Amino acid sequence: MDEVQELREAIRRARGIVVLTGAGVSAESGVPTFRDGDGLWKQRRVEEVATPGAFREDPRMVWEWYDMRRRAILQCAPNPGHHALARLLMAREDVTLVTQNVDGLHDRAVMEAGGTLPHPRLLHLHGTLFVVRCSVCRWEEPNSEPIEDLPRCPRCDALARPGVVWFGEMLPEHALEAAFDAARVADLALVVGTSAVVHPAASIPRVVVESGGQLAEVNLDPTPLTPLARWSLRGASGEILPQVIVE
Ligand code: APR
Repeated sequence: MDEVQELREAIRRARGIVVLTGAGVSAESGVPTFRDGDGLWKQRRVEEVATPGAFREDPRMVWEWYDMRRRAILQCAPNPGHHALARLLMAREDVTLVTQNVDGLHDRAVMEAGGTLPHPRLLHLHGTLFVVRCSVCRWEEPNSEPIEDLPRCPRCDALARPGVVWFGEMLPEHALEAAFDAARVADLALVVGTSAVVHPAASIPRVVVESGGQLAEVNLDPTPLTPLARWSLRGASGEILPQVIVE
């Protein structure tokens, strides 16, 4: 049996699967990375933009940056990898999909598969671009509109910000706890399109292995998790996932 068939079987047999995805799962959807850019946009380093300090200093620049990314990503579509993961998530109660991505493409794949949002087992560790939240109180709401003026909180009138986790900020507690709870009881960690260098996300698959489970990785390149992988499939997730997820 080759690795694809073995992994397909392992997914079918597993009791409890935690999927961890990163930017690579959206690469085939054409999601522009920070390094893309047609020159119309000043090349800015993420650290200059995705931080509380940058927002305090120049909220307009930060919102211009996020508005550009929101508009660009709304032109992209979920790829076959997102759709395969959405099918798996909706077909089985024992599957938890944990993403580091803020592009909302897993959510759109779930909706296109007939699911409703927010999906209780789709966990966003780094938030999402398509929520606007207050920078002071707890107000937030889904929002995919173009940002013209600086949005303000309707409750306390403070500046509103993108609903993403910035460098140096805490991750959403519920998502993190739910991800580690699922990892402790999962048979299988399926790690897709992440360089596995950012924690605590990259520790989640390790907990599955430490708890006696197995790890499968789908990536173009090796990562720090590759040595732990029982299956390590080198290739594009948009091609591989539909072969191993045949729910
Ligand atoms: N299929 C599978 N893997 C792919 C594909 C693809 N089509 N294209 C790229 N990859 C792999 C790359 O080889 C790399 O290992 O996806 C990974 C992307 O790694 P990163 O760009 O580091 O993205 P990610 O791991 O999601 O970054 C984690 O860091 O920048 C912060 O908060 C941000 O959530 C992000 C976190």
